[in-house]
Amino acid sequence: MAKHKLLITGGAGFIGSHVVRLFVNAYPDYDIVNLDKLTYAGNLENLKDIENKPNYRFIKGDITDGDFIQNLFASEHFDGVIHLAAESHVDRSISNPLAFVVTNVVGTVNLLNAALAHWKDDLSQKRFYHVSTDEVYGSLGDTGLFTETTPYDPKSPYSASKASSDHFVRAYHNTYGLNVVLSNCSNNYGPHQFPEKLIPLFINNIKHNKPLPVYGDGKYTRDWLWVEDHATAIDVVYHKGRIGETYNVGGFNEWQNIDLIKVLCKTMDEKLGRETGSSEKLITYVKDRAGHDRRYAIDATKINQELGWAPSLQFEEGIAKTVDWYLANEEWLDHVTSGAYQQYYEQQYDQR
Ligand code: NAD
Ligand code: DAU
Repeated sequence: MAKHKLLITGGAGFIGSHVVRLFVNAYPDYDIVNLDKLTYAGNLENLKDIENKPNYRFIKGDITDGDFIQNLFASEHFDGVIHLAAESHVDRSISNPLAFVVTNVVGTVNLLNAALAHWKDDLSQKRFYHVSTDEVYGSLGDTGLFTETTPYDPKSPYSASKASSDHFVRAYHNTYGLNVVLSNCSNNYGPHQFPEKLIPLFINNIKHNKPLPVYGDGKYTRDWLWVEDHATAIDVVYHKGRIGETYNVGGFNEWQNIDLIKVLCKTMDEKLGRETGSSEKLITYVKDRAGHDRRYAIDATKINQELGWAPSLQFEEGIAKTVDWYLANEEWLDHVTSGAYQQYYEQQYDQR
């Protein structure tokens, strides 16, 4: 029997690399292709441990190039796609919205078009899985949770582009009968996250005794999920999710930024052997993010009851593991924070 041939896009990024690793190790009989443009956020060092496995191949390529994507589908005969490639950082979307439209919307539609063109005689046997975010639902007040039926209300250019791509995926199911499935996940954390996002940025700054730039009053709330738990959710949704359905994924783990930052500071003090309280002294309140969403929180009941998925790790344990990883992988952190990162940092933070 022919091997199941799976395309994973964005597999050199933070979440994508954990998904690639899980699938390569769990499914030796699959033929897994990782397609990634290797933007600033993509890094093949994230995949060193599996890069020589016989069921894995990397292809460098750009999802915004429609001809390239059509040719790839024509030559590779994929059975399924797990689509993670995206521009993913809200702050960058505020400075350059168009890049998010091009990658997140046009890139997704290129993949949908190629899937449709090459799968049209066998639509129900193929699967297009779109990985999305809870930010499409907008912002919550003090109470309530996002469910799969919460109306879309994206408020940043990033979330607007992800919402648009979600709508296209559903439209291709409704209009052309493409076998799609989607998930919308809360904030991930763990090893290999690029240090533009809150947790790795603050770990890096504490390490170098630099100020910790807390946006606004610091009382914004996020629901944090260990990245490997997102990868296991993606595994069950890809294999067992019902056609056309959406599954919310989250950690039932809400933290106000400032409380999370204090846990991080305490953990860093312990791991670095510094006096308790020394990292907290680096906390600096800075100008708020424009249009900052106040609170996200996910109701992950559907994926739990229907597909049996649940997060595996408590937050304190996950934070300790994350800090250990960044401290043990100085070289990785030094590589990604050299060159273009310094320029980004100055642009983003010097005027706050
Ligand atoms: P990331 O920025 O770490 O990685 C994105 C990857 O996509 C990189 O490897 C990059 O090189 C690649 N890429 C970007 N543009 C490309 C293009 N034009 N062609 C091919 N590859 C391209 O992002 P992440 O945090 O790992 O997020 C992955 C996906 O999960 C995104 O779709 C994001 O919206 C979604 N998501 C992220 C989170 C989170 O907390 N990080 C939560 C929910 C959903
Ligand atoms: O909810 C899922 C989303 O989570 C994903 O779709 C996005 O790809 C991912 O980037 C993340 O978005 P956030 O904007 O929530 O993550 P970020 O790490 O950028 O910020 C987390 C919170 O911390 C947010 O309230 C802004 C705040 N923050 C962030 C940075 C980078 C600061 O206070 N200071 C900072 O320097």
